[in-house]
Amino acid sequence: MRRRLRRLRWILLMYEGDRLVGTVALKRVSRRHQRRSFRTAGVSLKPSWRRSELGFLCIDPDYRGQGLSFRIMQEARDRGCRPTYSVTGREGVRKMNAALGMVRRGSPWQGRKEELSLWTWDDDLAPPLETSGES
Ligand SMILES: CC(C)(COP(=O)(O)OP(=O)(O)OC[C@H]1O[C@@H](n2cnc3c(N)ncnc32)[C@H](O)[C@@H]1OP(=O)(O)O)[C@@H](O)C(=O)NCCC(=O)NCCS
Repeated sequence: MRRRLRRLRWILLMYEGDRLVGTVALKRVSRRHQRRSFRTAGVSLKPSWRRSELGFLCIDPDYRGQGLSFRIMQEARDRGCRPTYSVTGREGVRKMNAALGMVRRGSPWQGRKEELSLWTWDDDLAPPLETSGES
């Protein structure tokens, strides 16, 4: 866990009073990890692309279903997490990503537990991303 936390660029923490109810983070990822996600989705990745992935989206079970994940993701977007991408296997999160203006890139693939897909903001694609071949 400590190693994972050291890899964070930043983390947003959402509180109600002194209770931590939600998180989302911008993770520093290895080029290898990033290339694997993009290659598996069939999307090419330029070397200039920042090595950051959105993750650790988590809402306290007692607080789910109230739109908090959407709010914290809006905050992440508005505070300048871009350009970045996220990988998700959850139908609800896919809908939310689309509502946040993200687009699914390439093709979904089978993860260990569920079908995964790669998401970026549309205008993050140019110039760092192309959708054919790999650089
Ligand atoms: C997934 C998770 C973060 C959702 O948190 P939440 O605060 O309950 O979600 P919200 O109330 O904002 O949204 C409820 C649902 O509508 C979706 N949604 C929210 N706002 C939306 C919008 N404006 N348009 C479309 N869909 C929306 C959400 O994705 C969610 O779908 P789900 O219930 O099928 O997961 C939460 O269930 C969780 O922490 N799960 C465990 C960790 C996890 O799976 N993280 C995601 C990894 S990709």
